[in-house]
Amino acid sequence: MRKRILITGGAGFIGSHLGHELLKHGYGVRALDNLSPQVHGPSGKRPEYLDPEVELMVGDVRDAEAVVRALRGVDVVYHFAAAVGVGQSMYEIEKYTSINNIGTAVLLETLMKRPVERLIVASSMSIYGEGLYAGVDGPVAVPERGIEQLRAHDWEVRDARGEVLLPLPTPESKTPTLSSVYALSKYDQERLCLMAGRAYGIPTVAMRFFNVYGTNQALSNPYTGVLAIFAARLLNGNAPMIFEDGYQQRDFVSVKDIARACRLALEAPAAAGRGGGVINVGSGRPYTIRQIATRMAEAVGKPRIGPEITGKYRVGDIRHCYADITLARDVLGYEPRVMLDDGLRELAEWLE
Ligand code: NAD
Ligand code: UD1
Repeated sequence: MRKRILITGGAGFIGSHLGHELLKHGYGVRALDNLSPQVHGPSGKRPEYLDPEVELMVGDVRDAEAVVRALRGVDVVYHFAAAVGVGQSMYEIEKYTSINNIGTAVLLETLMKRPVERLIVASSMSIYGEGLYAGVDGPVAVPERGIEQLRAHDWEVRDARGEVLLPLPTPESKTPTLSSVYALSKYDQERLCLMAGRAYGIPTVAMRFFNVYGTNQALSNPYTGVLAIFAARLLNGNAPMIFEDGYQQRDFVSVKDIARACRLALEAPAAAGRGGGVINVGSGRPYTIRQIATRMAEAVGKPRIGPEITGKYRVGDIRHCYADITLARDVLGYEPRVMLDDGLRELAEWLE
């Protein structure tokens, strides 16, 4: 009999791609999603991009009765429902703690009474803070850059002697540095799920996504990432505005690769065991924000619009972070397939 999967937050950007991926591979898919107006607009309508075969239950993950209904006949749960704005989380603390932390708690209390074969929770690279760096005596974790340093437009991370440190791929073992309410809540979600999973015999995997991009991203939501912001500006004929000097590095991963990694986390027997059940999912390749601006301009057919280097900065921004995906390769057999330029072209076509 085909397995039935519940995706909380399944009408969102990543959840909708995962739903499609699972359906393609013969699973039955249900989504529990409250169609949050910030993501889906005020109409509360089922998003058009959602695969028609996804059974959508409109409800809140904090509503225990809705969760009980959504879990009926379900074999596996993906917990993706969350409020996702890093900046917004710093002033809407109650909302973020409620949706992300309490929502997870309600789901877990329901799962205790009705365990499933596997639980997979969306975690985030944001819990690392700065990525890992190469120190003189080996890899080092570094604190956030101070406000004085940023004011002085001294962007790079430095060691105690003032030497610039170079970034390394960040593995799952890097100690988290939680510098936003959002990051704290994502760490809480993954720890709660792993802890309850162990206590109640539910094999659990926490997937730490890096900077995810692709179609179905909510552009109406002001908290989407840099790629969507750059694309929207370019399509309106405006230059991408780059913070700092544009040499900061990130790991952009296609939502299609993320969806496949998530399916593999359900199918790979060892996924819930190795590495404490925590797995990075990125492309494993760093790009600078300047490169991203140039490539996005090419992808939307406006190669002559160069970026504007503003020298402005966002307090709380990290300098560099990209994924070490060795564990995902070993445990899931995951290999990123979407090349950045192809992914950007697809995003650009969808936006137009
Ligand atoms: P998204 O906002 O597109 O999707 C989240 C979905 O959850 C939305 O459809 C929303 O309506 C729903 N939702 C919000 N509150 C809810 C509630 N109380 N009850 C039920 N549903 C609710 O975001 P996304 O980018 O698809 O993110 C999915 C998951 O991946 C999140 O847990 C997020 O923290 C994580 N993540 C995303 C990224 C990224 O780059 N997009 C990176 C790391 C981690
Ligand atoms: C943050 C979150 C991450 C979340 C992501 C997308 C942290 C550490 N991480 O990542 O969890 O998934 O947002 O919501 O908080 N930039 C510009 N110009 C712009 C916008 C951004 O130059 O118009 C720069 C930023 O300064 C940053 C880089 O682009 O250096 C990436 O920014 P963004 O896409 O917001 O993602 P992160 O900060 O990596």
